[in-house]
Parts: sequence; structure tokens; C-alpha cells
Amino acid sequence: MKAMVARAWGEPDTLEYAEVLRPRPGAREVLLDVRAVGCNFPDILMVQGRYQRKPPFPFSPGHEVSGVVAELGDGVQGPAVGTRVIALVDHGAYAEAVAVAADRVHPIPDALGDEAAAAFGIVYQTAWCALVHRAALRPGETLLVHAAAGGVGLAAVQVGRALGARVIACAGTEAKRQLALTHGADAAVDYGVAGWPDQVRALTGERGVNVVFDPVGGDVFDGSTRCVASEGRILVVGFAGGRIADIATNRILLKNLSVIGVHWGSYEPAIVAAWMQRLLALHAAGQIAPVIWRSYALRDAAAALAALGARESHGKIVLVP
Ligand SMILES: NC(=O)c1ccc[n+]([C@@H]2O[C@H](COP(=O)([O-])OP(=O)(O)OC[C@H]3O[C@@H](n4cnc5c(N)ncnc54)[C@H](OP(=O)(O)O)[C@@H]3O)[C@@H](O)[C@H]2O)c1
Repeated sequence: MKAMVARAWGEPDTLEYAEVLRPRPGAREVLLDVRAVGCNFPDILMVQGRYQRKPPFPFSPGHEVSGVVAELGDGVQGPAVGTRVIALVDHGAYAEAVAVAADRVHPIPDALGDEAAAAFGIVYQTAWCALVHRAALRPGETLLVHAAAGGVGLAAVQVGRALGARVIACAGTEAKRQLALTHGADAAVDYGVAGWPDQVRALTGERGVNVVFDPVGGDVFDGSTRCVASEGRILVVGFAGGRIADIATNRILLKNLSVIGVHWGSYEPAIVAAWMQRLLALHAAGQIAPVIWRSYALRDAAAALAALGARESHGKIVLVP
């Protein structure tokens, strides 16, 4: 079968479209024929060797696929061969087939197409983990979402809206801000201009926002501390901006702030499965839906990741084998 293979740390254009052995499912695994693959910012970091987990070479990157169950390993009762599923994996998704632990496979309804399903897993899981599990976002609260037209950002806009929050979106271009407004944001701000935290404060009658969803970090995190309300919660989701911010603990004390870590990948499969049921119910109710910016052939994964890293993409990018 074909797969994108990393043989050394490097930029995404060092990935090789190579012929590799089709995997066999081990004990408690299922083999999936991949229909589509979701691209995520951490895929770039993993290829560069800057991600927290570093697989041994050679490896294929990629954390999420949609596909069809092709074979069951020893000790696996289901899902049955032929079932359409989403699977969430540590790596290995950029391939025509992937062997996955059976408890990380989630059957999906027909209403969720292959490409949408490949884009459904990680971003909505991360948004749910952050907003519901970590921040306990309540109806009527104000939620500020950074990189709001990106993968996890747009998912957070949709989930925040579905939870009854008032959503303020920050994004780097007018087109991205419009996309966030189309998908549930109540207001949008350009966080590329000086003084953006003042604009956010003004939108809240100077009280500040209750919850911040921050996949960017750096200066954006610093700005968030200036527009978050007393007793606010700042969710540390990622560092797409490249700098990991520091915060003075006196600022946390003075504002009664909570700075909350979000590491979705550390949660047990049973918890992830429960969250998936909640998210699929929101999708069935028409409250959330993946936004696919572009789909690329699997062999063009380097171009897809270049667009993601260069801030070109809006919503999600998927690869199709
Ligand atoms: N904590 C978790 O469990 C978890 C799970 C998934 C992802 N993440 C993290 O969330 C972040 C976003 O991931 P994603 O896959 O959804 O990507 P993405 O948001 O689709 O892309 C990154 C976005 O960040 C913004 N950005 C700001 N400064 C940037 C810079 N210097 N370089 C690139 N982008 C910059 C850009 O939006 P603008 O142009 O609007 O500024 C860009 O579109 C990543 O840091 C990722 O590692 C965390």
C-alpha cells in the first residue's frame, strides 16, 4: 500500500510517498481501509520532531482517519467488517490502511460523509474537552476563541455556541473572521492589531470575557490576560504562534484567574468515546458540522501541511488516499 513516510526530522516536504507493507491488525486491534485523513497542526510538529511524542523512524504522521473496518484482530468482537468509523491514533494515519486499537474506533452515521468524518475527531474532541470538561462553560457566559477560523478554533466556536455561550472570535484576516461569524460567532476581532484586547473588553461592556480558548499562545495569551474577566478561565490549548507565554502569578492572584491546561490526547479511550457520543448527537441535531477548506490527494500531504503551517487554511484540510 501507499503511505507518506518520514525517515528523518524535517519539514513536511521531506515526507516520502512510498510503497510500504500493508499492516495486519494485532491483538485487540482492527484494520481500517482509510477513506480520508484529517490534517492537524500537531502533524507538522511531529514531522519536525517538535511534538511531545517522537515515533521511531520510519513512521507515517497523522492522528485521525475515517475508514471502513477491513479486518478484526484477535480478541476483537467489533465493530463488524464493513462498518464506517472514525479512528483516533497516535500516528500512522497518512496511509491507505491503518491498524488501530479497537477502543479508539468510533462507528459513525451515514449522515457524516467520509471527508467530514475525517475532520470530526480531534478538533471537536479538543473543543469539548476544553470547554465542557476543563472550563465547565455555562450558558450565557462569554467565550473568546483565538485562531477562530482554524481547525480547533472553528470547532470551539461551534461547540461554544451550542453550549449557549456568547462567542467572540479572533482571527488574522477578514475572510477568517467572516467564516467564524457564519459558524456561530456573535462578534469578531482582528487580533493582529495593537489594542485588540481593548476591543474585546468593549464588546463585553468592559467586564471582560469569562473563558478564553487559546490555541496560539505567545502575544495572544498575553493579550488575553488583559481582556479576561475577574474569575475568568484561560484555556491553554496550543502554541501555533511559536512562543510559549509566561504569566506572573500575581496577575493570576489579583484577577482570581484560572489558567487551565488542555491535553486532549491524555484522556482514556472510554472518556473519548463518551465525548464522541455527545458530539455526534450535536452533529445529528445540526448544531456542529466540520468545515472542510480543501481536500488533497494523500501524495500531496506536504502541500497540505505547508498551507496549514502558513495560516492559509480556513477550517479543516483532509487528505484522500
Ligand atoms: N491541546 C490539545 O489537546 C490540542 C489538540 C489539537 C490541536 N492543538 C493545538 O492547537 C493549535 C491549532 O491546531 P489546528 O490543527 O487547529 O491548526 P489551525 O488552527 O487550523 O492553524 C493554526 C492557526 O493559528 C493561527 N496562528 C497564529 N499565529 C500563527 C503562526 N505564527 N503560525 C501559524 N499559525 C498561526 C492562524 O490563524 P490566524 O491566521 O487567524 O491567526 C492559523 O490558521 C496547535 O498549536 C495545535 O498543536 C492542541
